[in-house]
Amino acid sequence: MNYLDRNEFNFQPSAKVTETIKNFDPQLLCFYTRIYDQGKKSIVSVRLSEIYGVPEEQILLGYGGEDILKNTVHYYLSKGDNRTIMIPQFSWWYYNRIAGECGGNTEMYPLHETDDTFAYDIDEIIEYTNRICPRMLLIASPNNPTGNSISGEELGCIMEHIPSQTMVLVDEAYASFITTDIDYIAPLVNKYSNLIISRTLSKFYGLPGLRMGFGFMGKGHEGFLNYANKYLGYNRFSEAVALAALDSDDHYRAVADQMDWGRKLYRRELGALPGFKIYKSVANFILIKYPLSIKERLQAALAEQDYKIKFMSDPGLESCIRITLGRPEQTQAVCDTIKRIALNA
Ligand SMILES: Cc1ncc(COP(=O)(O)O)c(C=O)c1O
Repeated sequence: MNYLDRNEFNFQPSAKVTETIKNFDPQLLCFYTRIYDQGKKSIVSVRLSEIYGVPEEQILLGYGGEDILKNTVHYYLSKGDNRTIMIPQFSWWYYNRIAGECGGNTEMYPLHETDDTFAYDIDEIIEYTNRICPRMLLIASPNNPTGNSISGEELGCIMEHIPSQTMVLVDEAYASFITTDIDYIAPLVNKYSNLIISRTLSKFYGLPGLRMGFGFMGKGHEGFLNYANKYLGYNRFSEAVALAALDSDDHYRAVADQMDWGRKLYRRELGALPGFKIYKSVANFILIKYPLSIKERLQAALAEQDYKIKFMSDPGLESCIRITLGRPEQTQAVCDTIKRIALNA
């Protein structure tokens, strides 16, 4: 089966990751890590601190980005009178779920459709946040499923103009595919204590099965850091693999370039077909509007070739598909199939 429905990694892990797994010393699993004796969480948070220039104590680790998002939302929304969280109108269903789990109240803010993308309106986000004064503001950048993002500069502008009581959680699970800029992170978490940025090894680093997420947070949140921290350390096997992945940027950058080839193919081949619209994507998936009338035939044709893509059902996106950017031959096969069905409509 070709899984192009959940934004996974249809490529090979880096040679270093594979070697690390083969050579891992099982004896290490017979003991807890001792790194906490040095006041650190993990060899991974130490390495991330070097890469991102953020102090180790402001780095979060979790069982995937999922865990960081859940911990953050549960911690900040489950206490006090203000339990409102603002989330993007079209976004990952999980945000709503974790807010609901702890009695949170979700308010949506819009994404605006333009000629070739869905876009955040920064002024509007600032205006909504000041009006609603939510306990949390969640921004997904890049956003799933729309594929658009905000820049570090725009994030800085939002932080500057909203109440400091609002915790801002930026889900950057899909960062790094196009933009390599990480330089905005350290100054922003240094300046704004109400900022948390969540990332993961599941997407750019292609290791969703490893379940390793990381994040950066503003200063002065010992309560949350204690809540989110694992006192006896993290999975030592995952830690070793994570270090190898973080050390393999060249490999993953080459994969991202192949995905970019796929983005361009979809745009070129499907963009001109009647009823189609290709949304600009900076993530490892692409959102495409298609004529709903071909849905059943398209589903059947893809299933016949063992391909799975995501047929959207979110209100407002019913006429869209989201396709993970896979290997070139997979992209070519899906693109050819869509074209064949569309032209025989
Ligand atoms: C927007 C978004 N954020 C976070 C995640 C979490 O990924 P993980 O828990 O594998 O790090 C996903 C997974 O698909 C996602 O779509």
